[in-house]
Amino acid sequence: MSEDKALSDARARISDCRRRLQRLDANSIDLLFAEARNHNWWQDRDVTDDQLREIWDMMKFCSTSSNTQPARLIFIRSHEAKEKLKPCLMPTNVEKTMAAPVTALLAYDLEFFDDFAQNYPVRPELGERFKTDAAVAEKFAFQQCTLQGAYLIMAVRAVGLDAGAMGGFNADLTDKTFLSGKNWKSNFLCNIGYGDLEGIKGPRLYRYDFDEVCEVI
Ligand SMILES: Cc1cc2nc3c(=O)[nH]c(=O)nc-3n(C[C@H](O)[C@H](O)[C@H](O)COP(=O)(O)O)c2cc1C
Repeated sequence: MSEDKALSDARARISDCRRRLQRLDANSIDLLFAEARNHNWWQDRDVTDDQLREIWDMMKFCSTSSNTQPARLIFIRSHEAKEKLKPCLMPTNVEKTMAAPVTALLAYDLEFFDDFAQNYPVRPELGERFKTDAAVAEKFAFQQCTLQGAYLIMAVRAVGLDAGAMGGFNADLTDKTFLSGKNWKSNFLCNIGYGDLEGIKGPRLYRYDFDEVCEVI
């Protein structure tokens, strides 16, 4: 397909989408935002590979700077893999993680720039700066991966599952256990399943109002 045709097709798909849907309805906003909580306990219901693929097929549309997409995911599901994860977890995160159908290990690839020309063909030369400065590359990878992590949580919710994100784990041990031989680093963990309300121990905690933290200038 010619580039012109690809561009006009993309524009047609965008305007068709906006014709079909102008904004999310109140139910969708409740599911994704207002009634979505960080879940801590799980119903005895499996999460399928198809659901994990569907989650990826949504979160992959996260915009990242220069389309770099440094996030990498390992879905930890088998009993053996969960047992390997156990010693990496902060004690308060152990029981719920062992009970979760799947735990996503979100990591970032320190060599994400190897694919720079593929992912950002408009200006491939912009990838050069990462090859010579590992600190710049790592800061960039962490930032963009974290953005993709927010999309991970939202995609989990969008397919009707619940997410339980966790920063309480030993990242060095997790890297050694799950990422050896890869030049990746752990960012955060996210339990995925159908939440059990037993794990919701209180009402929503304080959230800032617009006027407390936002300015329009
Ligand atoms: C990146 C991230 C890391 C978190 N780490 C932990 C954790 O290690 N253990 C835990 O119990 N909750 C953890 N949480 C859950 C937060 O404490 C929770 O989202 C917050 O208190 C607000 O609750 P709500 O999402 O239900 O409104 C984490 C959440 C995020 C997004």
